[in-house]
Amino acid sequence: MRPYSLAKPLLFHLPPETAHGWIHALLGGLQRTRALSAVANRYAVRDERLATRAFGQSFPNPVGVAAGFDKNAEIPRALAALGFGFVEVGGVTAEPQAGNPRPRLFRLPEDGGLINRMGLNNHGAEVIGERLRETSVDVPVGVNVAKSEHVNPEDAPADYVRTYDAVASGGDFFVVNISCPNSQGFEELQNRESMAAIVEALVDRGARPLLVKLSPDLPEPAVDDALDIVAEFDLDGVVATNTTTTRPASLRSPNRVEEGGLSGKPIEGPSTRMVQYVAERTDVPVVGVGGVSTAEDAYRKIRAGASAVQLYTGLVYRGPSIARDINHGLLELLDRDGFDSVEEAVGVDHD
Ligand SMILES: Cc1cc2nc3c(=O)[nH]c(=O)nc-3n(C[C@H](O)[C@H](O)[C@H](O)COP(=O)(O)O)c2cc1C
Repeated sequence: MRPYSLAKPLLFHLPPETAHGWIHALLGGLQRTRALSAVANRYAVRDERLATRAFGQSFPNPVGVAAGFDKNAEIPRALAALGFGFVEVGGVTAEPQAGNPRPRLFRLPEDGGLINRMGLNNHGAEVIGERLRETSVDVPVGVNVAKSEHVNPEDAPADYVRTYDAVASGGDFFVVNISCPNSQGFEELQNRESMAAIVEALVDRGARPLLVKLSPDLPEPAVDDALDIVAEFDLDGVVATNTTTTRPASLRSPNRVEEGGLSGKPIEGPSTRMVQYVAERTDVPVVGVGGVSTAEDAYRKIRAGASAVQLYTGLVYRGPSIARDINHGLLELLDRDGFDSVEEAVGVDHD
């Protein structure tokens, strides 16, 4: 039996945010010891066929940690040791934020999902920027840049730039988060004018590589608008997708009534369809995120056009060996289908 199978029932007895705090503390402790290299030896899958290049970054493998798991950039080295090929920290806002009152994170075990309305709780850009500058991580680290809670949409461009300035020298790439369903006014941020103003301000400031993260709830015309902006400002990539505010009829867990963004298995299909829609209409790399918990899930997103994938909810349900398991599984799937590398499989399912 794997250690996580033993720990999971205990962890799942705790409120989800408490369990997350324990895991975080454990990984934080681990990061300060020499045991980290032993962890990397156990979990990191080193194989050239998994190596991927996208938006100027070299990823040892295409499986990354999605934004929200390490909001304050406290454990990126531990996550790299668990075999993840990159880590996106944040969302980060200009000032520290407490987020919404607890409880604000809910498990939907019957559905393999989570609902969260964290509300972008984080230590603020100054502290996180400093932490990033002090930490050396041997995989690329992205920073998810979000709008501060009390800033009006018309002041959002300056607010994003302020946050970017504080973290700029600590990140390898930057993700404009205009799709967080738990921040006030997020719907307006995704309209064409608001998004263009935010992106233009960041590009003028020299924010590169710069990616934009989209909601799975965007109707096709709005996705097309977003892709026009990606082209107009020559952005470096698209992250698809964030959580959904919709509730599929198939959900069984009583927690489906909670407000917030739904992640995990229930959004795997919709987010893969969004990856494919985006990848078929743009030349920039797409990072696929939403419901990835097995090698098959990751492979579907890669074949749909994702250059790399990320996950959060899968880590909660499958535990610390998830990156290793997905990477081993990907190698088998590549072999089965006669591909020499992950890069060869990117987008093969396009029409
Ligand atoms: C508790 C929690 C917090 C999150 N916080 C952020 C965030 O701060 N910024 C962001 O862009 N996405 C955030 N996300 C969304 C994830 O990055 C990801 O896009 C989404 O959960 C879908 O992936 P998954 O199904 O693998 O979890 C969060 C997700 C969860 C579950």
